[in-house]
Amino acid sequence: MAKAMIVQPGGGFDRVILSERDANPPAAGEITVRLHANSLNYHDYAVVSGMWGPSEPRIPMADGAGLVTAVGAGVTEFAVGDAVVSAFFPGWNDGAPPFADFATVPGDGQDGYAREIVTAPVGAFTHAPKNFSHAESAALTTAGLTAWRALHDDGGLKAGETVLVQGTGGVSIFALQFAKMAGATVIATSSSAEKLAKLEALGADHLIDYRKNPNWAEIARGFTGGRGVDHVIDVGGPGTLEQSMIAARLGGHIALIGILSGLSGEFSMITALLKQLQLKGVLVGSRRQQADMVRAIDANGMKPVIDRAFPLEDIVAAFQYQESNRHFGKICLEF
Ligand SMILES: NC(=O)c1ccc[n+]([C@@H]2O[C@H](COP(=O)([O-])OP(=O)(O)OC[C@H]3O[C@@H](n4cnc5c(N)ncnc54)[C@H](OP(=O)(O)O)[C@@H]3O)[C@@H](O)[C@H]2O)c1
Repeated sequence: MAKAMIVQPGGGFDRVILSERDANPPAAGEITVRLHANSLNYHDYAVVSGMWGPSEPRIPMADGAGLVTAVGAGVTEFAVGDAVVSAFFPGWNDGAPPFADFATVPGDGQDGYAREIVTAPVGAFTHAPKNFSHAESAALTTAGLTAWRALHDDGGLKAGETVLVQGTGGVSIFALQFAKMAGATVIATSSSAEKLAKLEALGADHLIDYRKNPNWAEIARGFTGGRGVDHVIDVGGPGTLEQSMIAARLGGHIALIGILSGLSGEFSMITALLKQLQLKGVLVGSRRQQADMVRAIDANGMKPVIDRAFPLEDIVAAFQYQESNRHFGKICLEF
């Protein structure tokens, strides 16, 4: 039998148990994958910690990567031995978003990938980048794709534009890397000098300590000669949106991604209106967008920033480490 971690109904760090789950042989249109890594996200943290605990026993983790061990009848996209990475929305192949909730998302509405083996429809995975470890591939499903879609599909990012990224979480570091890959200028914020130095080493052009400079938007505008930035990757939510709107140029694009500072707050309608801002909500992305991202990674040789990896059984310790906010980049499970 293969190992699987289970979160009991309601969630909570004291309600996560090690169990066993086998996988059925693949039926037509399915593949079996021996998983080797997960990556942690705030959303997975919410499920496991009990903030948004599951209503029934649930295998957590949306991000999984591993090797195909069997393919069902009619499967042509994958072969045994292929390295694959999970899709956040297995039912969203391409086109306009069909979902506005997490009912179909592995690790939330459906069982996820904190387990050694799974059999799933082909739509649950895409190919992984060449020369990636499984942990590096697992980093892509949620954080990587969110940053990719926000910049390219929603933002239409062009070389020479300016992108502002907030903090040093998974989404923001991917956004920095993808923006540099596309030839953009990056303004990066963080709450610590040590992390700002790491952002600089990754290619950030301008740095701002958002704790020391709560009105950081004017500093950001200064870096653009007063014009304002073209794209803001907003992960703070209500606590950062006002500054994001001030930092943006006229007609600028703000990707509404995160809720790190809460779920609701004040909104300056007049700033959004007068500046004709494009405020765009983001919920990860489609399988086609993930395949585009993987192709771009293969062409450019970028590598995700992995902070630390824990064994599967230490999933709670991994989330407690995430909670401590000491990480820079992705925290993973490897097994
Ligand atoms: N909409 C979507 O599709 C989508 C997808 C993925 C994630 N998200 C959301 O995006 C947010 C970030 O996710 P993540 O996985 O990247 O998180 P993470 O890895 O846990 O990143 C957290 C980091 O964000 C920074 N931070 C915290 N509070 C901040 C604030 N008020 N202002 C600016 N930066 C702040 C901190 O960086 P420093 O220590 O450097 O200050 C912290 O280390 C979460 O709310 C998550 O739910 C949304």
